[in-house]
Amino acid sequence: MPRKSRGTIGILTAGGDCPGLNAVIRGVAKAAMHHGIRVLGIRDGFRGLVENRTVELSNGLVSGILMQGGTFLGSSRDKPHKMPVGHRVVDMTEVAVRNYRRLGLDCLVCLGGNGTQKNALRLHQRGGINVLTLPKTIDNDVAETDITFGFDSAMSIATEAIDRLHTTATSHHRIIVCEIMGHSAGWLCLGAGIAGGADVILIPEIPYDLDVIVRSLAHRRRAGKRFSIIAVAEGILSRAEAERRTALGKKQKKNSEKTPAPVAPHAPDAVHLVHEPVASRLARHIQQLTGVEARVTSLGHVQRGGPPTAFDRLLCTRLGTKAGELLAQGHYNIMVGVKGTECVPVPLENVAGLKRTVPPDHPWLRTARLVETCLGDEAV
Ligand code: F6P
Repeated sequence: MPRKSRGTIGILTAGGDCPGLNAVIRGVAKAAMHHGIRVLGIRDGFRGLVENRTVELSNGLVSGILMQGGTFLGSSRDKPHKMPVGHRVVDMTEVAVRNYRRLGLDCLVCLGGNGTQKNALRLHQRGGINVLTLPKTIDNDVAETDITFGFDSAMSIATEAIDRLHTTATSHHRIIVCEIMGHSAGWLCLGAGIAGGADVILIPEIPYDLDVIVRSLAHRRRAGKRFSIIAVAEGILSRAEAERRTALGKKQKKNSEKTPAPVAPHAPDAVHLVHEPVASRLARHIQQLTGVEARVTSLGHVQRGGPPTAFDRLLCTRLGTKAGELLAQGHYNIMVGVKGTECVPVPLENVAGLKRTVPPDHPWLRTARLVETCLGDEAV
């Protein structure tokens, strides 16, 4: 006999993809269906909700996807309140809420990073709908969770890349600068840099000094080490750039207290405004200053592709099934995060709008310094 329906949920994946999204969809859907909840998949993030593009998820549809990279539902970076429609950017919040109600949803489950956490909370606050989020991103920078899914897989890919760069850098006695994603957080670069044994690791949280790096590279040469690997996070800043940014921030804050700044509909964020990849600029300067041949590798979207690691598969299945259980108990407007060994609900208000960067006293930083890795602020 078919189980009595205990409500309907919609599930979407938004923002940049990462390994593990399919594993979470599977976990949420299977656990929710186990409790008699109907599950609708929404295509291409919030855009699919606005455009009413859904697919009914069955046990068969979510079987066999645990190990597949990407998201079979598709993703987009579209926000309901600022959605490009033709040549205009339109607030589609009302349409999204109307469709939520037409579909008979009891909750909208959103898998995403910081942007998605904010968009989900905004839909709840402005549209009165129920939401539940899960922390996805290779950047590992979502607040109120010890880890995000996708991070471990990306860290493994970046570590393997550094391993491969090591052998070629050694053969040619070169410096290789490897650019790693992470937006404005250094978790991915720091983790992969330590795991791959990079000689210099530069992260956005620690503004770098070029002289310090050059002195550290010279020290390695004097010790007979004729190659060096520099792991660079895409969001790094030199000390001078960081000072300029702080001064600009203060000025903007002062001005915005007088008149609020107009919001550009398609303003690209600071990291992606950089025309020359940050690693190329750095490699050029280092080659000039050290006289040693330097090369650049930018890992780019390779870090977001392919299957999730075993760690991520387990994490995703735990997070997804926990979400399914919480939904069955009627817990909404929360993010399911990781605290210690547990998957726990946290109020979405405590997450949205915050960013978890590497704190100055994080043990990984001490670890790196103890194995003589230069972090760009002190010479080794
Ligand atoms: O947030 C994940 C991430 O991969 C960041 O590390 C990176 O800065 C950004 O997305 C790249 O975005 P896109 O896929 O839109 O180029």
